[in-house]
Amino acid sequence: MATGESAEALHPAQDTLSVTDNRTGASYEIPISDGTIRAMDLRKIKVDPADFGLMTYDPAFTNTASCRSAITEIDGEKGVLNYRGYPIEQLAEESTYLETAYLILHGELPSRRQHDEWVHNITHHTILHENIKKFIDGFRYDAHPMGMLVSTVAGMSTFYPEAKEILDPASRRDQQHRLIAKLPTLAAFAYRHSVGLPFAYPDNRLSYCGNFLNMLFKMTEVSYTPNPIIERALDVLFILHADHEQNCSTHAMRSVGSSHVDPYSAVAAAIAALYGTLHGGANEMVLRMLRAIGSTARVPEYIKRVKAGEVKLMGFGHRVYKNYDPRARIIKKIADQVFEVTGRNPLLDIALELERIALQDDYFVTRRLYPNVDFYSGLIYQSLKFPVEMFPVLFAIPRTVGWLAQWEEMLVDQEQKIARPRQIYTGHRRRDYVSMAQRA
Ligand code: ACO
Repeated sequence: MATGESAEALHPAQDTLSVTDNRTGASYEIPISDGTIRAMDLRKIKVDPADFGLMTYDPAFTNTASCRSAITEIDGEKGVLNYRGYPIEQLAEESTYLETAYLILHGELPSRRQHDEWVHNITHHTILHENIKKFIDGFRYDAHPMGMLVSTVAGMSTFYPEAKEILDPASRRDQQHRLIAKLPTLAAFAYRHSVGLPFAYPDNRLSYCGNFLNMLFKMTEVSYTPNPIIERALDVLFILHADHEQNCSTHAMRSVGSSHVDPYSAVAAAIAALYGTLHGGANEMVLRMLRAIGSTARVPEYIKRVKAGEVKLMGFGHRVYKNYDPRARIIKKIADQVFEVTGRNPLLDIALELERIALQDDYFVTRRLYPNVDFYSGLIYQSLKFPVEMFPVLFAIPRTVGWLAQWEEMLVDQEQKIARPRQIYTGHRRRDYVSMAQRA
């Protein structure tokens, strides 16, 4: 805790959990604070002094809080998402991605002066070292852009050796600026490489998203002018993806960062976690699923297969939300605005029909499965002419600020140490080595 106050001082334990150990008959009072008990308090529960003490078993951390955090609040039951206390709906309506990124990283909305300085800092770190282009060039033409992103972000740590100074707040701030600024450039270069186009350099006159569109789609024109509706839609999508508390990739960022590695290596690990189909890869899978279904007439047949456990309804369900994901609601609105510019995506009708049937089907209702953020985002990205491989990249760019804010919070939290879970050993007990000649 940055202030040096103990967790107990800030959140005094008022309640206790009484535990009687049937093995020994001993009773224990375990303090309850913030709706949790401390796992280490269970270690006092022993059968004898030599006993290691009780542990908790929680595969996939489904009921374990691993940190205290003041960044993002989710109420999964009510479908609420707030960054630093501000509702996602208000930020999506009123804010910009860079302002929201400042809020997430610094904890407060910026003043005009702070905002302008922040935007200037990000804008003036968008250029990549020319050598980074060379390793993008080294990838095969069909390399997945997430693979390129993981590698190039990790590679960046070698360009900024001072990034190892993770306990120096000024160094941390420099790397945060660089990472937020350079991710769109890396992503755009990876895209241009995969389609065989020359790299387009950043244009400092443009907004964060405007410049990203420029680096992606600029052709022979002297300067690129983004469509304002598309630019704003992308900005809002970035706001929606900026942070989401302790999800898989954020956990990877905190866990890898807890070894005190530089932030480029930790962000590369977070991007790798995001790459998986159950996380940032889900919108790619949604699009593949919609294509495979092919028509609204085939939706009931697909739902039948989902219910039989043969396939999943991609873009549905969430570990935390047991209600409509508030981001999905906002994305649905943006989709309409984007389709006015790009034309209606024919897969939208299949998505709407899937949602309509699923929301009234007992299988989904009883399991509380609702559309998540990825259900509609892929349709927008496809309409903007992004290949599906770019979808998780479009998630990684805005999430970088969330990872960095969570990493910073972890580093200054005096309760945190290197992440190191325990296990229940299920293998052989000690046995003696058998020479190869004697093995059966
Ligand atoms: N389709 C069909 N059934 C589902 C789905 C789905 N998409 N999601 C969950 N279920 C079912 C499970 O089979 C399980 O049923 P059961 O109780 O009969 O065994 C029940 O609902 C509970 O699901 P869990 O797997 O326990 O939920 P968990 O919290 O572990 O998983 C997850 C959450 C991974 C998101 C899951 O819902 C899923 O795989 N969804 C599809 C992939 C997806 O859209 N991922 C994006 C998540 S959002 C994001 O990362 C930004």
